Amino acid sequence: MSALDGARVLVTGATGRIGTVAVPHLREAGAHVTTLSNAEHPGLEADRVLVGDTRSQEDVATALDGVDLVVHLAALAHRDIAPPYDVYSTNAVSTFNVLAQAGAAGVSRAVVAGSINAYGLPMNRHEVLPAYFPIDTDIPVDIADWYSLSKHHGESTATMAWRQWGIDVVTLRFPHVHNTEALLAASKGLVDDPQSGIRECWSYLHTLDAARAIELALTANTTGAHAFFLAADETIAPYRTEDLLDAFAPHTPRLRRLPGRQVPIDLTPARTLIGFEAHHPVAVPTLDLPERFR
Ligand SMILES: NC(=O)c1ccc[n+]([C@@H]2O[C@H](COP(=O)([O-])OP(=O)(O)OC[C@H]3O[C@@H](n4cnc5c(N)ncnc54)[C@H](O)[C@@H]3O)[C@@H](O)[C@H]2O)c1
Repeated sequence: MSALDGARVLVTGATGRIGTVAVPHLREAGAHVTTLSNAEHPGLEADRVLVGDTRSQEDVATALDGVDLVVHLAALAHRDIAPPYDVYSTNAVSTFNVLAQAGAAGVSRAVVAGSINAYGLPMNRHEVLPAYFPIDTDIPVDIADWYSLSKHHGESTATMAWRQWGIDVVTLRFPHVHNTEALLAASKGLVDDPQSGIRECWSYLHTLDAARAIELALTANTTGAHAFFLAADETIAPYRTEDLLDAFAPHTPRLRRLPGRQVPIDLTPARTLIGFEAHHPVAVPTLDLPERFR
């Protein structure tokens, strides 16, 4: 029997890329799922489907009625998807509204979609590199856009909600999450432009693994507020990681060896806190880094 058997779970943003995979996954694990999204999705099946806005106190209060656990995915999921004010305010207010109301209502646990962008470098308009590789949760933050800021502040909101109401929160700092086809296309794009992926550490996660991570984070026995990176073990770049770092970050310290195509992100917290290992790698052949990049 799954630990989620019979649990009543609210999933916000359920009609999106991750939500449409996470909802059936959680239902398969035995959860009774309520969805709250501002869009309709004809194929989405749940026990209670609500159309509403995660910024609305009333819509979130209705959605939280009778709920044990929360998965908060709703967001404007990219810097350029809407004007800066809309991206920041939608994401910041939604996370505050959902976690504050869930905490006040006595919900024991929430899982929040964070982002690798919480450390600010992937969308940074300056030519900055991580302070070291593999990046970890202590990596210095340098934020130059409103989407990254919203994800960074979402983690502080989670800590506040835990301190105020005792709700346990796991914020999953997702990297690029997509299906096999889109991930393979992204990998092909890196063949001729490998440098473009460096600040995301060439990381990725299959949507099926994102759904698994959400289940694990909902059922883990951690307490408090935690935020950490998670990714597939290997990069989506077709080249060896140390060759890429030699070429594009030769002066950046490395804290350890990174054999093969090992992703230059410390995945230890994902393993130790929620027992997560990616199970759905995409098959990317390893190529020698061409001389022109060396
Ligand atoms: N997909 C990725 O590569 C990726 C990477 C890092 C983080 N994330 C985060 O994961 C979460 C889910 O991402 P996704 O790829 O599924 O995004 P998506 O854009 O496909 O889905 C977002 C969902 O949120 C809903 N939504 C947006 N604003 C809302 C509001 N005000 N009220 C109610 N619903 C609202 C949308 O209708 C949509 O269903 C987001 O928080 C995103 O920032 C995604």
